[in-house]
Amino acid sequence: MPGNKRNYGSIRCFHRCLVAGYDRRIWNMKILFYDTKKYDRDSFEKILPEYSDLEVEFLEADLSPRTAALAKGYDAICAFVSSDVSEKVVECLAANGVKLVLMRCAGFNNVDLDATNRCGITVLRVPGYSPEAVAEHAMALALAVTRRIHKSYIKVRENNFSLVGLTGMNFYGKTAGIIGTGKIGAAMCRICHGFGMKVLAYDMYRNPSLDFVEYVDLDTLLSTSDLISLHCPLTDDSYHMICTETINKMKDNVILVNTSRGALIKTEDLITGNRNKKFFGIGLDVYEEETNNVFENREDDILESSITARLLSFPNVIVTSHQGFLTEEALEAISRTTLDNARDYENGTIKDINAV
Ligand code: NAI
Repeated sequence: MPGNKRNYGSIRCFHRCLVAGYDRRIWNMKILFYDTKKYDRDSFEKILPEYSDLEVEFLEADLSPRTAALAKGYDAICAFVSSDVSEKVVECLAANGVKLVLMRCAGFNNVDLDATNRCGITVLRVPGYSPEAVAEHAMALALAVTRRIHKSYIKVRENNFSLVGLTGMNFYGKTAGIIGTGKIGAAMCRICHGFGMKVLAYDMYRNPSLDFVEYVDLDTLLSTSDLISLHCPLTDDSYHMICTETINKMKDNVILVNTSRGALIKTEDLITGNRNKKFFGIGLDVYEEETNNVFENREDDILESSITARLLSFPNVIVTSHQGFLTEEALEAISRTTLDNARDYENGTIKDINAV
């Protein structure tokens, strides 16, 4: 097996073998996984037997300028949302013979595409895996805050069976306002519709599959919704779209859920709004300044930001750690698409090199 030294010529050679009727592979693609957590490893290992042409090794360390050289001898690396795939890292990967970066996520804002283009490295990603996973987590947060599940769980564990402070609000008959009706927002619209809610939406583009949804302008959505859920991407336009000005337009006792990106909400304004008793509840899977926390156990650390602590000091706020995507189904879809991407690359069926 020529293994590590293979280049595109090897791909062409491999294809010629197949065309000539050989069914024996002459090399396996070697992939180094960075930032591997137990759940990543479990979901990939479950399906790896179906990909005998791929050799995979898992590293706990994340990709960074210090760890990029560990990829020497590998054809590809697999990275995740918070991996550092900056110019320096890309150049180091290229110098060590890596030809392919497999992002096992949808986002690629952490990848320097100019650098990968220049270095001839292909970048592939998993554009969509399970919109329902994220939408169901958004509804889980909404239900948890409205029925005070987080408080009742703790109380009952302490033999406190009092119901004081646990009064919730029915969703049936109320109005849901969904901001962004792409894949995840559409799934959230369907869930809210199933709860018997009137569903309003704000998006620049109407989703034709949502015939039960009424599209309105942002101000109307803000002023009439009992539950507001954010499902648009973070862009220059959407940065801090929820701030004092927009919070003031919301109904009193509104529930706000964000499973999209932290910086859609200006957290200081959210804290002020909550102090002013605007919100019945707030459910956040993402929040500003989450980057150092995401997917890490930091229970022994003194955190550098007080934002999380201040948010968590409110009895009507629930914060989870960017886990919207984390279901068995989504992980399997991520694993399968990532390995299919590797195989497509190996088989030369990726049409557009460097087009993620
Ligand atoms: P998508 O691209 O299918 O849909 C986004 C929608 O937002 C589009 O219809 C677009 O027209 C709309 N939009 C863009 N800018 C807008 C604005 N300023 N106001 C209103 N609508 C706007 O994206 P998808 O797959 O539904 O994902 C949505 C977001 O969910 C992603 O951007 C990502 O930030 C987040 N996400 C969170 C995860 C988690 O684990 N919590 C996992 C995956 C995605």
